[in-house]
This record gives sequence, structure tokens and C-alpha cells, in this order.
Amino acid sequence: MNHDVIIIGAGAAGLMCAMEAGKRGRRVLVLDKAKKPGRKILISGGGRCNFTNLHIEPTAYISENPHFCKSALARYTQWDFMDLLAAHGLSWTEKTLGQLFCDQKAGAVLNVLLDQCTQAGVEIKTQTDIRRINKSEKFTVATDALDYTAESLVIASGGPSIPRMGSSDFGAQVARQFGLKNIPFRPGLVPFVLSEKDMQGFYADLAGCATEVVVSCNNQSFRENLLFTHRGLSGPAMLQISSYWRKGDAISIDFFPDTNASEWLLLQKKTSPNKQLKTTLATILPKRLASAFAERAWQNQPLGQYADKQLRHMGEQLKHWQVTPAGTEGLRTAEVCLGGVSTDELSSRTFEAKKIPGLYFIGETVDVTGWLGGYNFQWAWSSGWCAGQVV
Ligand code: FDA
Repeated sequence: MNHDVIIIGAGAAGLMCAMEAGKRGRRVLVLDKAKKPGRKILISGGGRCNFTNLHIEPTAYISENPHFCKSALARYTQWDFMDLLAAHGLSWTEKTLGQLFCDQKAGAVLNVLLDQCTQAGVEIKTQTDIRRINKSEKFTVATDALDYTAESLVIASGGPSIPRMGSSDFGAQVARQFGLKNIPFRPGLVPFVLSEKDMQGFYADLAGCATEVVVSCNNQSFRENLLFTHRGLSGPAMLQISSYWRKGDAISIDFFPDTNASEWLLLQKKTSPNKQLKTTLATILPKRLASAFAERAWQNQPLGQYADKQLRHMGEQLKHWQVTPAGTEGLRTAEVCLGGVSTDELSSRTFEAKKIPGLYFIGETVDVTGWLGGYNFQWAWSSGWCAGQVV
């Protein structure tokens, strides 16, 4: 069966590309192996879809080539996507740090894309297994049902995070088939797991405790909440820094982001020398965390019994607490995957493979990964839109 464009993957990027190409009068077929399109859109942002961010900037994206994302993000911006939702009567609320959530829930965002696809005459076939892809003059995609042919083939199959949702490294497989370089996928925006020794020592009984911190690793810092878990460390601060972390790296945590902790402790000693360290720390930190510091790290005593040097050292530790995770929770819970088709292989304007005319990669299949907070959907919209103008 003949089409102009075949898109594999009816997720955020694939649907955006499909509706744009359809609007240009192209005969578009979208194939997806899942039961329904847009599953990750539906579960995103706790069901409210954090669909973009007010502060989209290239520096919020990780890639071997940090410049690659600039063109697409500038050509289809967060404001363009907001306009699209507004034109369909949807509204949104900024939660924190510029993160926009849809007031009418994630299903409404998906419906906008599906409506646009319907209006543009896009055909979407779900529950379709791709068996083979061949290229002669055109691309032929052999499925478990029929063979389809088109002059443009767009790979929008996302990354392999959360495999129980049917995610796969299909994009990397297609890239390999056509001799394109891949940056190996690795989990991003993922909780950390600590060693058993750590979990039975300092971090015991802290699960559920949350506090605002500045967390740093490999020259990157984030100021957000840290959540202690039964297996390690999570919360937005840890998810963000996980994308910059490599096995063996230590993470530095500032538990007193607004305070010079050493001077504060010395002042507390002067004003309340009989107050226990634990009670003092609990005026700034959650109680259980204050106890962990005071009792497990520094033998809780009245402040007056610590030498100034000791308090200064504690202050330093509270500002630069070091932890070396044993690992991460892995692809099972990662919100995204870093890596993907190397940007060296693709045009940053069209997303076409330089060596294989007619073959395109968009969204999470490409080695561009955003921060937590709507950045990854914006990448899907922007890259999908750009390819949609030319396929
Ligand atoms: P996406 O994964 O959306 O779509 C890929 C499609 O390809 C799927 O429909 C899949 O079924 C299909 N497919 C895969 N392999 C195939 C094959 N072999 N054959 C046929 N079809 C195949 N981001 C954000 O900005 N804000 C947020 O709030 C969230 N929240 C969030 C929550 C959770 C739990 C997760 C897991 C992820 C997020 N994200 C997010 C990340 C965001 O979901 C992700 O970056 C985008 O969905 C990527 O869009 P793509 O279109 O590239 O892939």
C-alpha cells in the first residue's frame, strides 16, 4: 500500500510530525505496536501532562552536540505549542520552575493531536508489529499484517525506558541497520539506589523525608526537593542530577542552600549553648534528617560542648555532603533515556539522516535529552514539527 510518509511511533513526536505533514497534503500513515496512541502522554505529569516549560533553553538539553537542539527549539517554541492548545480551548497552570500542566488533563492534550491528525487525513494503525524495513527506491515497511511503501520514513519510536509499557530500542536498531552511529541508551531522570551499608547506616529510617537542597555533580547543579526512599534517593533534585551522573561519581548535596551553615551553627552555640545539636538542626531540616546528622554523624550533644572548629567542620559537611550511589533504578523507572541516534548523522533542521535520504529520526530516538519539567515533550513537539515540514 502506498503512502508518501510512514511514521513509526504514535507518541508525542510522531503525532506532531504526522499532523504537520498531513496539513501539507502528504498521505501519512502512522504505525504503532501499542494498543492505543500516546500512552506516555497519558501517564505524564501524574495524568496532567507537563507539556512544556516557560524557560525552554538549549542549555537544558544533554547531547554529545549541545548545539544540535538549538534550531528546532527556536523554530517551534513552547509558545507555539501553547497557542495550539489555546486554539482548542485548553488552559494550563504553572506549577513550579516554569513547568506548565494542562488543566483539562493529559487526555485533552492527546486529543488535540489526534483531532489535528484526523483533520489532516492521517491514518493511524495501532497493534502493528514491524517485521522488516527495506529501502530500494522507496522504503518498504513489512508488518505482521501488510507491507507499506513510502518515500519518507520517520522513526519516532521513543527510547527504551519503562519497558513494561512496550518501550524499545527500535530506533537504535533501525539506525544500526542503515549504518548510522548510535550513542548507547542509558537511563535518565531516574532515582538512585544506595549501597546496603549506606542504607543500614546514615540513611536508615529516612524514607519519606523530603527537603529542599542544591545537588551537584559533574559541573551541573539543581535546586529542588530531595526525597529519601527505602532504596536510596529520589525527588526532582535527584532525578535531574541523575542525567549527569556516571557510575562511581560522588554527588554533593547542600542541605542549607540559603545559609552559611558554619556561621549559623557558631551563632546558635553563642545564643543557645545548652540546646542539643539535634534540636538546633531540626529548626531548618526535617526532624528525622536532623537526628540522622546529629546522632549518626556527630554524636548529639549540647552545642556548647562542641569546639568552634568542630561546628565549622559540620557546617562544611552540611553544605557539601558527599554520597556515592551504588547505581540507579535503571530503565524500569527512568522517565527518559539519554543517548540515541548520534546527532552527527542528522540534519538539525530537518532530522533527515545525512547518509540515507528519506529516513528521519525524531523525539527521544535522537541523542538529545531534556531536564525534568516539560523539556522532553517540547523536544518531541519541536523535532516532530521540523520533520513534519519536509517529509
Ligand atoms: P514516545 O515514547 O512518546 O512514543 C513512542 C511511540 O512509539 C509509542 O507509542 C510506542 O508504542 C511506539 N513504539 C515503540 N517501539 C515501537 C516499535 N518497535 N514498533 C512500533 N511502535 C513502536 N516529559 C515531559 O516533558 N513532561 C512530563 O510530564 C513527562 N512525564 C513523563 C512520565 C513518565 C512516567 C514517563 C515514562 C515519561 C515522561 N516524560 C515527560 C517523558 C516523555 O514522555 C518522553 O520524552 C516523550 O514521550 C518522548 O516522545 P516520543 O514521541 O519520542 O516517544
